[in-house]
Amino acid sequence: MKKSFIVANWKSNKTVLEAEKWFRTFNNSQLTINKEEKKVIICPPFTLLPKVKELSFNCQLSIVVGAQDISPFDEGSYTGEINGKQIKEFADYVIIGHSERRKNFLESDETLFAKVELANKYGLTPIFCVQDEITKIPENVEIVAYEPVFAIGTGNPDTPENAEKIAMQIKANKGIISVLYGGSLTSKNIKGFTKMPNIDGVLVGGASLDAQEFYEIIQNA
Ligand code: PGA
Repeated sequence: MKKSFIVANWKSNKTVLEAEKWFRTFNNSQLTINKEEKKVIICPPFTLLPKVKELSFNCQLSIVVGAQDISPFDEGSYTGEINGKQIKEFADYVIIGHSERRKNFLESDETLFAKVELANKYGLTPIFCVQDEITKIPENVEIVAYEPVFAIGTGNPDTPENAEKIAMQIKANKGIISVLYGGSLTSKNIKGFTKMPNIDGVLVGGASLDAQEFYEIIQNA
């Protein structure tokens, strides 16, 4: 049985109190999950990294913490940036190259490649997002998330068949071991994607904000 990654991307959502409430609901869920087959990664905003790390210790499922971004610079005089060494205190994964960052913050391939290098330097595993099969991917990346822009936050996911085809094309790149799909996933449509042989997990945005729905996503994946 292949192991699936189930990644929650909370984006710019939740306060400390809201995160505590999310974990209370999550821990009270009465569903059965096969823990061996699923790796659950929560990516909260930077302000919640220490809190989510702490809350994940007391969680009924084993949860790993990820960041949503990383500075393209090492530690130093870069006002407002959070660097890899700081992130590694709380997290083991980092999302790099999300289309919202490429579009709203004009992140270039060069910037994203620098971020991957620093993530690797500090022992953070990059989850590198691509929008299609031709997006450039740096060499030292093992996990790629295919997230077509038309599917993000629109309620209009790609078809599992097309996502599978693109996952196969992405895996033709040297070194890529796992391809995740992201875009308008819910507990109802998740299985269509995770049952595909070349899709190794999912990246969930909006639907991960609701603890009960996210629990059902994990169960159904
Ligand atoms: P969505 O976002 O699940 O809300 O469509 C996915 C993502 O942007 O990672």
